[in-house]
Amino acid sequence: MTAGAREDWRPDSWQGRGALQQPAYSDRVALDRVVQNLAALPPLVTSWEVEALKSRLAQAQRGEAFVLQGGDCAESFVECTSPRIVDQLKVLLQMSVVLTAGLKMPVVRVGRMAGQYVKPRSADIETRDGVSLPSFRGDLVNRHGFTAEEREPDPELMLRGYERAALTLNFVRGLMDGGFADLHHPENWDLAFVGQSASAARYHRIVQRIADGLDFFESLSGKKIHEARRVDFYASHEGLHLLYEEAQTRFLEKRGAWYDLTTHFPWIGARTGDPEGAHVEFFRGIANPVGVKVSAAVETDELQALVRRLNPDNQAGRLTLIHRLGAGNVERDLPRLIAAVRATGIGVVWICDPMHGNTVSTDDGVKTRRFDDIASELEAATAIHSAEDSVLGGVHLELTGEHVTECTGGPRGLTDTDLRRDYRSTVDPRLNYDQAMELAMRIAGHGLADLQPA
Ligand code: PEP
Ligand code: CO
Repeated sequence: MTAGAREDWRPDSWQGRGALQQPAYSDRVALDRVVQNLAALPPLVTSWEVEALKSRLAQAQRGEAFVLQGGDCAESFVECTSPRIVDQLKVLLQMSVVLTAGLKMPVVRVGRMAGQYVKPRSADIETRDGVSLPSFRGDLVNRHGFTAEEREPDPELMLRGYERAALTLNFVRGLMDGGFADLHHPENWDLAFVGQSASAARYHRIVQRIADGLDFFESLSGKKIHEARRVDFYASHEGLHLLYEEAQTRFLEKRGAWYDLTTHFPWIGARTGDPEGAHVEFFRGIANPVGVKVSAAVETDELQALVRRLNPDNQAGRLTLIHRLGAGNVERDLPRLIAAVRATGIGVVWICDPMHGNTVSTDDGVKTRRFDDIASELEAATAIHSAEDSVLGGVHLELTGEHVTECTGGPRGLTDTDLRRDYRSTVDPRLNYDQAMELAMRIAGHGLADLQPA
C-alpha cells in the first residue's frame, strides 16, 4: 500500500527549515540551471523497484528476511570503474550467500552505492597552516584538494554525480540480469586475490553445499529453480544534499504519490535527524522506504516524534531505524529505544550499524574501528532484540571487497601498525574482505556450525 500525497507537503517545503550540512553555493544562477537540468533528466530508479524493496523490507520487519546493507563510507567519482563495482557486488553477494545459508531466510541486498557521494562534516571550515577553506563535503559538492578553487562548491558536480550513479546502476543491472548473479555459478563472485584466505575456504564449503542442494532439488523435481537463479539488488545513499534529492523527486499520477527517484532507499544521517528539521520534512513526503540513523544521543521522545512524523500511517517496510550506538552504549540504550518505538504503536524495521558508534583514533591519530567492538555491538544487539521480543531485521556495514587495512583485528589480527600499510578511505575505515566475511559468518552463526573449522 502506498500512502498518498500529503496536502501540507511539497518537494521544496524543507527549504523553510534551515537545512543543516548543505553546501553554500555562491553562483545562484548556475545552481538553478543545474537543478532544472537534473529535474528534466530521467529518474535513476523506478517506483516499481522502490515498491518492491518496500515489500522486502516489510518482510524483514516481520522477521521473514534479513537486510544486508553495505558499501563504502563515501563513493568517489574516480572509483566509478568496472573492477571496483564488481568487487563491491562480489563481496555483498558472497556475504548474502553465507547469511542465507546460516539464517535460513532470504537476504535483501542493499548497496551503499550509486549516489553515496555526500558526507556530513563536523565543521563547515577546515584550517591548515593558518589557511581556512570550506570543508570537503564529498564529490557531489566540491573537490578534495586544499585550494580555494577546489573547495568552492560547484553545482555542476551534481550532474557529474547523477551521471556516475546512472553508469553504476546500468552496470549493476546488466550484471544482475545476466549470468553474474546466477546461483548455479557462484564462481562468478570469486575475488581474484583471495585464493589463500581462510574466509574464502570456508565460503567455498558453504557454496558447495548450496550447489549440491540446488542440484538435488532440480534432479528430484526435473525443473530448474528459476526463482533462485537470479538475485536482486537495491541502491541506497545518505539523502543529505536536499537540492539533489528534490530535483529528482516526482509525482507519479498512477500511484498518487511523490517518489525520490535518485535511489531506492535514501536514509537520514545521525546529524540531520531532528524531527523538526529540514531532512525529516523532506523525507516525510516521499513514498520511498526511508531509513534514519539513531545514535546514543537520541532522546526517547525525540525518537517517538520522528517515528510518528515519518510513518504516520504505520506502513510496513516504510521506516527503518538504523541504530549505531557503540559497543559501550548498546546495552544501556537499545532497550530504551525499542520500548520508545513500541509505545508509539508504529512498526519499524530495526537494522544495526555496528560501525559508526565504534570509531576511535590510534595514538598516531589514525581513524579506525576494532573488529571486536563491531562484532560485540552486533552480538549484543541481536541478543537484546531477541530478549525484548523485537526483530533485528538486518545489518548496515561499511566494507570493501579489497584487502585494505583500515579496521584492526579480524581473522588476520591486524594491528595499529598495519593501518599504515594499505589505508585508502578518505573518510571512515571499512571492513576488508576477510573481516566482512568473518562478520557474515558470525551473524549466520549456528546455521553454519557444521561448516566451521574444527
Ligand atoms: C555514514 O553512514 O557514513 C554516516 C555518516 O553515519 P552517521 O550519520 O550514522 O554518523
Ligand atoms: Co561512514
